[in-house]
Amino acid sequence: MRIPTTTFTKLPNHVAIIMDGNGTWAKKRGLPRTMGHRQGAKTLLEVVKASQSIGIKYLTVFAFSTENWSRPQEEVDYLMKLPFEFLAQYQDDFQKSEIKFQAIGKIDDLPEPLQAKIKEVEQQSLNNTGLNLIVAVNYGGHEEIVHACNQLLKQNKNMITEADFVAQLYTNNIPDVDLLIRTSGQMRISNFLLWQIAYSEIYFTEVLWPDFHKKELIKALKAYESRDRRFGGIK
Ligand code: IPE
Ligand code: IPE
Ligand code: MG
Repeated sequence: MRIPTTTFTKLPNHVAIIMDGNGTWAKKRGLPRTMGHRQGAKTLLEVVKASQSIGIKYLTVFAFSTENWSRPQEEVDYLMKLPFEFLAQYQDDFQKSEIKFQAIGKIDDLPEPLQAKIKEVEQQSLNNTGLNLIVAVNYGGHEEIVHACNQLLKQNKNMITEADFVAQLYTNNIPDVDLLIRTSGQMRISNFLLWQIAYSEIYFTEVLWPDFHKKELIKALKAYESRDRRFGGIK
């Protein structure tokens, strides 16, 4: 028997997700917030696999913002441990399924073991040709822009082009975002990819991140399919 697959008339090349609502998910169950993050990591794996099978080329997920350091130390510690464990657990699977991993953000402020793991998996998966999985950790749009400006200052130029600027972003090798998804009902950007979402289609859903299963991703992709992208022009 053939398993029916969902087909799309158009697919976003690059999907970015603000994975929000882990804390709320846990609270609803009387669990500590960390358990929401743990469940969120499981959802991430499911969404990675689904994105890959659907044929999305770039998936960028917001795992920890430059503002998230202001959370209680216990939660911050857990959120620093989680990406390490995620990478350690799945790095072999990434190789088998040709996933190319990359982290974006101010990586050198992360705990040493996490930095080392990120470098290891980036190196290991460098030549993979499947889904590009980009994880934003200690990422902030403002920080990225100021970092890019500081890099440009070192070049002693009088003037820069958009291309010069883009070349200094953490996402320099990654195309702009086509579809931005935010879960958990909050309708804001929270300092995520500011430059890269200039012309993204935006999809907000009330669904909490740990509940964002494959069918929710398909719903978002179906919404994208019906969007009329104009880029300032007319039809
Ligand atoms: C998103 O879930 C995960 C991170 C920000 C790391 P939250 O922890 O923000 O969950 P809510 O928004 O409190 O429900
Ligand atoms: C954005 O969610 C950051 C991540 C999902 C990693 P937050 O929960 O930190 O955003 P705010 O505080 O609600 O804006
Ligand atoms: Mg939140």
